[in-house]
Order: sequence, then C-alpha cells, then structure tokens
Amino acid sequence: MADVKTLGQFIIEKQADFPYAKGELSRLLRDIGIASKIVNREVNKAGLMEILGKTGVTNVQGEQQQKLDVFANEQFVKALSSGGECCIVASEENENIVRIDSAVSKGAKYIVAIDPLDGSSNIDVNVPVGTIFSIYRRKNLAVPASLGDVLQRGTEQVAAGYVIYGSSTMLVYTTGKGVNGFTLDPSIGEFCLSHPDMKTPETGTIYSINEGNYVHFPQGVKKYIKYCQVEDTATYRPYTSRYIGSMVADLHRNLLKGGIFIYPVTAAAPNGKLRLVYECNPMAFIIEQAGGRATNGMDRILDLEVAELHQRSPIFIGSPAMVRQAERFMLEAGELSFSDIPYSLHNRFL
Ligand code: AHG
Ligand code: MN
Ligand code: MN
Repeated sequence: MADVKTLGQFIIEKQADFPYAKGELSRLLRDIGIASKIVNREVNKAGLMEILGKTGVTNVQGEQQQKLDVFANEQFVKALSSGGECCIVASEENENIVRIDSAVSKGAKYIVAIDPLDGSSNIDVNVPVGTIFSIYRRKNLAVPASLGDVLQRGTEQVAAGYVIYGSSTMLVYTTGKGVNGFTLDPSIGEFCLSHPDMKTPETGTIYSINEGNYVHFPQGVKKYIKYCQVEDTATYRPYTSRYIGSMVADLHRNLLKGGIFIYPVTAAAPNGKLRLVYECNPMAFIIEQAGGRATNGMDRILDLEVAELHQRSPIFIGSPAMVRQAERFMLEAGELSFSDIPYSLHNRFL
C-alpha cells in the first residue's frame, strides 16, 4: 500500500499547475469528491432503501425524475454550498441556476454545472450510472455572478470530470493538463490514483449509438453505421456495437478501449438529446485532454455558442480517427447544418 496516492493528495500535488486560485479549485474538487462518495453509498444500496423508482415529478427536461436524481442533486448542491468556493450551481435537475448566497461563498469564484445522476433509466436495474461536472470561473468578480457566467463556451472550462458508479466506482477528471482516473477503495473510503494520464486510442472497434432510432437518423449517420457493419479486415470491421444508455459508462469504456459514441439529431430530439452545458462540454473537454475528438458532426463541441442553460446538442465523440470518419459521412451526405446550431466556415473543425 506504500505507493497509494489519494485524490486529495494528488489534487494538492497538482495545484501548482492551476493558473489561479490554487487552493480554491482544490477545495472545490475535494468537495465534489466527497459528495460523490455519499451518492455512491446510496447507489450501492439502492435496492435496500426506499430510494428506487420515480418521484412522480417531471423535470424541466420533460423527463420523469427518479428518487436518486433528486438525492444526488441535493447532495452535490449541499456540498458545493457549504464548501464556499462555488457561487452558482447549474444542474440538470433545476430549471434555473441555484445561487449560493451564504456568507462563506460571497467571494466565491467558481461556477459548477452538473448532471448529478446520468443514466437515470438504468438506476432500477443495477446498470452503471454516473455524475458529470464542469467548472467555470466567474467572468467578472466585480459584478454579481449571473446566468451569463454559466453560458460560457466549453473552451472556458477550468476543470471537468465524471464519476462512474459501476462494478467499481471511479472519479476521472481534468484541469486541462491531461486526464487522471481514481478508483474508490471502499475499505479506506478514498479515491486512489489508478489510471494516471489516461489516453484514448487513435482508433478503435466499438461504436455506440441507440440504433433503435435508426429510421430517424440523418443520412450521414445511417451511412456511417452501415460502414461500421461492413466486413473489412484491414480496418477490423465489422466493429462491435456497445450501448449501455448511460453516457458516462459508454464514454468511459470507449475512452479506455477506443471507440465512438454518437447521439445525433433524431425526429424526437431535433437538436440532439444531450445537454451542452453539463453533458457534452465536460465530456468533450475530458476526451480532448485524453487525445480524442468531440464535435456535433461538423463543429468542435467546445467552440459552440451557449445560449441556454439546458441547450441540447448532437454529439460525435471518441477516438479521433473514428470521429473524423463519421464527420466525412456527414459532409458527404450534405448535412452541413442542423436546425438551430449556427454553422460558420471559420468555426469548422474538420
Ligand atoms: P440523464 O439520465 O442524465 O437524463 O441522461 C441520459 C442520457 C445519457 O446518459 C444517455 O447516453 C442517453 O440519455 C440515452 O438516451 P436514449 O435512451 O435515448 O438512448
Ligand atoms: Mn445525463
Ligand atoms: Mn441526469
């Protein structure tokens, strides 16, 4: 056990890398780590508690809130409120931003956007779920923090991460200097460094997409799926199809093994399903830091303008060679713009 490094130790060691507010960002990351351990405890014993099932409430997304969605949201908001470093929490589960006005957070410099529980539909059936978080710095400390501080482009993130509550629980995060993964050792209750400097393979053999929506996909996506299924030994095709339905779990697997995850526009989700602020941007930051690529099929996710808190975006994310290949099919099919996503030549990322 001599060379075990805990998340807390690692954060302190690395804080010299932070461009500003070193101790504060460290404390914020530590608070997120603590809240995720509390959520992990409840997820682990979900079947034993009165915590499975729906609350009966429909959230702002028009989705049925699960009890664990609400519990996880409360835990993260509580941890971030008492920590004192965060002045606004933007959550999937809250229609509006949550301001933290307590004395302790008066001078707080950070904004946290969070998907407290990702993969809600998998909670009741013991399939991995996750948490996604994204951290921004307040734009102007001289004026009160506002929604404008949340609606920053993904390139402005100072840190992002996810927690996967799977066969083991892991916390993976980046502050823009590579990606590191920590596995929770339940015997000591600490996240311990297990995956230093994570890199995603340049290419892979896994494609992840909800193929049940096939008829509603854009032509380029349909053609890419067919490409994945064609036999070609030189490129290790046909690829393997893997889709869990929890973005965190699907992306974590693909990051480690090499693969592509696509959630395109569909008839039911004309702007895509996944949310830019607390799903696409943090995952795009992480995957880019791991050497991967994330676009909406044409433009880099991190460069997209953010106009609304719960804005959705299509996403193509994973091993760079695979994402580029899918983009080629989009381009060939002439799918150069999605309904209300601004497309401009100078913003192209091919
Ligand atoms: P959430 O549980 O936070 O609402 O997110 C669910 C998301 C994402 O995790 C997953 O990739 C996707 O929804 C699955 O959607 P489909 O069931 O439409 O495939
Ligand atoms: Mn989600
Ligand atoms: Mn969620």
